[in-house]
Formats: sequence, structure tokens, C-alpha cells
Amino acid sequence: MTAERGTILIIGRNGQLARALHDVFTASAQQFIALGRPEIDLSDPPTAKTAIIAARPAVVINAAAYTAVDRAEDDAEAAFAINEAGAKAAAEAAAEIGASIVHVSTDYVFDGKKDSPYVESDPTAPLGVYGSSKRAGELAVAAANPKHLILRTSWVFSPYGANFVKTMLRLNSERSELNVVDDQFGNPTSALDLARAIARMLPKLLDSSPDSQAFGIFHVVNAGTTTWRGFAEAIIGAAHRRGAPRANVRAIGTKDYPTRASRPGYSALATDKITGVFGIHLRPWPNALSECLDQLIGPTREDMIQPQEAFGRST
Ligand SMILES: NC(=O)c1ccc[n+]([C@@H]2O[C@H](COP(=O)([O-])OP(=O)(O)OC[C@H]3O[C@@H](n4cnc5c(N)ncnc54)[C@H](OP(=O)(O)O)[C@@H]3O)[C@@H](O)[C@H]2O)c1
Repeated sequence: MTAERGTILIIGRNGQLARALHDVFTASAQQFIALGRPEIDLSDPPTAKTAIIAARPAVVINAAAYTAVDRAEDDAEAAFAINEAGAKAAAEAAAEIGASIVHVSTDYVFDGKKDSPYVESDPTAPLGVYGSSKRAGELAVAAANPKHLILRTSWVFSPYGANFVKTMLRLNSERSELNVVDDQFGNPTSALDLARAIARMLPKLLDSSPDSQAFGIFHVVNAGTTTWRGFAEAIIGAAHRRGAPRANVRAIGTKDYPTRASRPGYSALATDKITGVFGIHLRPWPNALSECLDQLIGPTREDMIQPQEAFGRST
């Protein structure tokens, strides 16, 4: 049985990336179906196999995962069931019908000891259960389906679901001062930009043979590296220009904000490979943040623009 050309199956319905893919594919009239729980429950692999084989898509995009980084430390069985066994089942079912699998992974597969952006071939060394389960998923997907595209991304934000941008907006409306970690570096990434990148990759996935350069592991993040503190200041500054209050952001260290899971101190990802193979280069994260805040709050208010910003504008 072979896949039907052009149909895309998204695993996940309510997550940030799943909803962003829904928006992007709807806007471009790309044919797709999105299946979440209960139709596909990745902790119950046969549901994924049955649904994928019945739908016969040309490409399966796995946008679902166990994403609770701290909770995973005490819930390893569930994290591995979804991020490894569930992902493997989806990749195997896709292989069975000749479909490609797009699987999304994370910067948390690295330990953060490097001081320059990680490239795809750098050794992985996850610090926690979530990262370990995602790395196990990468390996399982790659072994199960030669037509795999594994996309590592990081610090995902969007108008949807729970994410750092929405948490900062809430805290900014409740408090006058926020303490935010300033010694973890990474690349904030818009789920919408990631979805647009996936949409641009689809034609190559549909046309390529399994040994094509289009398959393998790729890093895909918005341009620019910052800390959580830098990201928080940008969010709050941009929210203020849209009429929100402006809390003071204080830099603290990871040691001052203990969490159940350890996180890498530096997990910026190099994107030269995806630029070289697919011609994709995501815009700087502050621009993507603006789009997200336009959707969440509304456009920048003219009366809140600083004089130097107004001077620099071309219109
Ligand atoms: N968020 C980040 O900062 C970040 C960073 C790096 C990489 N990533 C990766 O990017 C991908 C997308 O993340 P995201 O931010 O969109 O995640 P998210 O918003 O947390 O959504 C996760 C999705 O997975 C679904 N899901 C969870 N358990 C499931 C199961 N047993 N069966 C089927 N679906 C299940 C959830 O379904 P319900 O809606 O039904 O709960 C939800 O739709 C994931 O692979 C994640 O590991 C995320």
C-alpha cells in the first residue's frame, strides 16, 4: 500500500506546533488532517499505527510530545512511552505506507557545555529525562523510517497553549518586579515560523528518495541568541508598547531558581545545514515575537513608540 500524494497527517491537535501547522496549512490550502487523542494516543502505539495506515498520508508530522520538562523527572515511563515508543510507532507506520516522517526534537538533547552554536553532528548528552526521551525518540524514528526529517528546535512560543511569552505577560500584569534566569542561553523560536519552515520543506520530502540530503537531522530556530532574562525584557518591552504595564526584570542565576530538571546553560543551535539544503533561514526572534504579540495583545500603540524608534521608521 502506498501513500496518497499530497495529504499530510499531523499528530497533535491542541499543542503549539500542531495549531501553528493548522493555521499555516489552512492559509496555503495545503490538504491535511490533524489527529490527536483519542484517535492517536502516542502512549498507546497501536492507535498511531492504525490511524496512519488508514489515512495513508504522504507525510506524517509528529507535532505531539510529552513536553513537561520538570514533571518528566518523576514520570520517566510516560515521557519515554510518548517520546520514544510512540514516535517510533508513528515512524514505522509511515514507513509501511511509504510516507516520510517529520519528527520534532529539542535543544535539550545537548548538555550546554559548548560555547558556540551546536551543529547537528555534535554529540548529544541530555541532562534530564525529557531530553533523554527526546534523544531516544530521534534514534528510534531514524531507525524506523529512512525517510525521516528530525527537526530540533528550542524555546518555542506562539499565541497558543502554555509558553514563556504567555507566562511573562501574565506575571507582568500581576507584579511590578520579575526575577528571571540570565545564565541559560538559547534561541526563542516561533511555532508559526517553524510551521512555515515545515511547509516549505514539504515539496522536497514528497519528491526525494530515502538517501536524499532532504532527510536527516536539522536544526531550525529563529535567528538570535539570548537568555530567558533577555527574552523576558523583550516580551515586556514589546507588551508595554502595546499598552501593557512594564514590570522591572531582575537578572538571577540558575542557582537562584532551582527546578526539578537541570537545563543546559547554553543550547543555541546552528542553522547552516537547513539553510544549505532547503534555503531556509528564520528571521530574528524579536520580529517573530512582534507577530505573536500583535495576535495576543494587538498592534503597537503609536503613542507608546519611543522617539528614536519613530525616527528610524521609514513610513
Ligand atoms: N515548547 C518548547 O519550548 C519546545 C522546545 C523544544 C522542542 N520542542 C518540541 O516541539 C514539539 C512541539 O512542542 P509544542 O510546544 O507544540 O508542545 P505542546 O504545546 O506542549 O503540545 C504537545 C502536544 O502533544 C500532545 N500530546 C501529549 N501527549 C500525547 C499523547 N500521549 N498522544 C498524543 N498526543 C499527545 C498534546 O495533546 P493535548 O493537546 O491533547 O494535551 C499537545 O497537543 C515537541 O516535539 C517538543 O518536544 C518544544
